[in-house]
Amino acid sequence: MAGRIPQSFINDLLDRVDIVDVIDRRMTLKKSGKNYSGLCPFHDEKTPSFSVSPDKQFFHCFGCQESGTALTFIMNFDRLDFVEAVESLAQQLGVEVPREQGRSYRAKIDPDIYAVLAQAEKFYRQSLRDSKEAIEYLKGRGLSGEVARDFGIGYAPEGWQNLEQAMPDVSPKTLLEAGLLTTSESGRSYDRFRHRIIFPIRDTRGRVIGFGGRILGSDDGPKYLNSPETPVFHKGAELYGLYEARKALRQLDRLLVVEGYMDVVALAQYGVANAVATLGTASGEAHFQKLFRHSDEVICCFDGDNAGRQAAWKALENALPTLNEYRQLKFAFLPDGQDPDSIIRLKGKSGLQSFIDNAVPGLEFLLTRLSQGLDLNSIDGRARFAGLVQPYVEKVPEGVLKALLQQKVAQMTGLQRSNVPAERANKNTKRASGRVKGVSERLLSILLQRPSLWQTVDEEVRNRLRQALDGSSVVGEIVAYIDDNASADVEELLVYFADHADAAALREQVGIPLEIDDDASRLELADVCRKLLSKLQVDKRKVALQDLQESPNVDELRKYWQLRGVAKD
Ligand code: UTP
Ligand code: MN
Repeated sequence: MAGRIPQSFINDLLDRVDIVDVIDRRMTLKKSGKNYSGLCPFHDEKTPSFSVSPDKQFFHCFGCQESGTALTFIMNFDRLDFVEAVESLAQQLGVEVPREQGRSYRAKIDPDIYAVLAQAEKFYRQSLRDSKEAIEYLKGRGLSGEVARDFGIGYAPEGWQNLEQAMPDVSPKTLLEAGLLTTSESGRSYDRFRHRIIFPIRDTRGRVIGFGGRILGSDDGPKYLNSPETPVFHKGAELYGLYEARKALRQLDRLLVVEGYMDVVALAQYGVANAVATLGTASGEAHFQKLFRHSDEVICCFDGDNAGRQAAWKALENALPTLNEYRQLKFAFLPDGQDPDSIIRLKGKSGLQSFIDNAVPGLEFLLTRLSQGLDLNSIDGRARFAGLVQPYVEKVPEGVLKALLQQKVAQMTGLQRSNVPAERANKNTKRASGRVKGVSERLLSILLQRPSLWQTVDEEVRNRLRQALDGSSVVGEIVAYIDDNASADVEELLVYFADHADAAALREQVGIPLEIDDDASRLELADVCRKLLSKLQVDKRKVALQDLQESPNVDELRKYWQLRGVAKD
């Protein structure tokens, strides 16, 4: 029989999850101010009154008064009892649920790990204050004291045992678990970060979960070193600067994804507070899930070198499963050899802004890049393109955005070419004739029964209507006949059109009494002619406009990309 679950474990569990994360996995949340809101899953409603507070790690519905922690939510939403909910949450985090059996419980995750990381951050900050060399380095890179303070930038001094000395109460085992030490082959542990500028990495709740360290100047070793994966640090999902961005801005209308720590900090210094960076890894799907949870618009702003363009492509591939019609993903490319840090120092905030304003929508980037070097006018080229693009289309979740993408691909490949234009043309005439039917029938009725009235219609209107009708419909044919035979009467018309496909319809129209006199008919005819004319013209314009919007302008896209150095030729 399993024992009790220790309260300390439950506290630990709640400490480690973000309630926004837990709820967002199960329903749609939107950022609104400091909190998140959505349609309450516990009662029926049309406007959102369900609110989640990341600060308090608590949810509350102003409609039905349901409220609680992440565990309460899981219990209610997944219909689990308390123990099952704890187990489900623990499983999500990959930890085992301990049971009390007399002996004291030791969590797999040292609950002190956050405290230890916070202590280390403090040490690094103090060390920066004490190091003339590090301060000079940061000054040399143009960093202001304010921004260094806002981001908690620090310095890891030279030497091997600094942290163990500075934190004598913490066991080396815990320091190791926190990623602060590393072990030599002989089993000795020593400081992971030595003689490096330190960037503390925080979770969205502001707790330090890891560090990035930049070498000063041109020492040996990798330029940047990051904390390893630890129980609290998962590179694949964390974003440098997100906490700071949320703190600086009440509303994150858009987020910029840049490549480096220095880019985030420099942008913040110049008043662009909405930039975040991945931690030396590609921007993955989990990153985009997180990004889109905080903002509907994400702009990847990568370096203008080959690596930057590769990174953009990788990011796009990873982002596809997170896209929908409410989320905008764009790509801005900087000139070769530049990064956001250098651009903003060179050209200021507005200089960077102009690159961001010219960002290319993700799907445009996708289609352009995949059609690169293919001749979409040849069957071979189109087939190859269709084959290349298919796996990407499949990654986009079902919905409006995917449907639009599929439509665009169909146009580009012309896979429906043999029937699309015909079908489309048909649809358009059907649609047009559907709308004009009432008016043109009335016109037919009047023309057949009082053909002589045609000459009373304004000449300009007659000419334009003749053109618009184009002789292709039975009304057009009748108009043409009456024009040539001014004295034609109803009998003559019926005889002349006796073998016409629409003869029966004509006879039917003649059978419908006009019920008005000559004068009234004249006025009505003038009115009907104008109405029909304007309807025909509107429909024609609509069809033209639609054709324009739907035409795949691959050449133009390609030119655009050539200018930006993305397409080869
Ligand atoms: P960059 O090489 O573009 O550096 O790496 P940077 O951001 O311009 O930095 P400065 O201006 O030279 O100081 C971009 C990001 O890639 C990761 C880091 O996260 C870095 O911020 N990186 C880079 C590493 O993890 N290790 C490395 O050795 C180099
Ligand atoms: Mn740089």
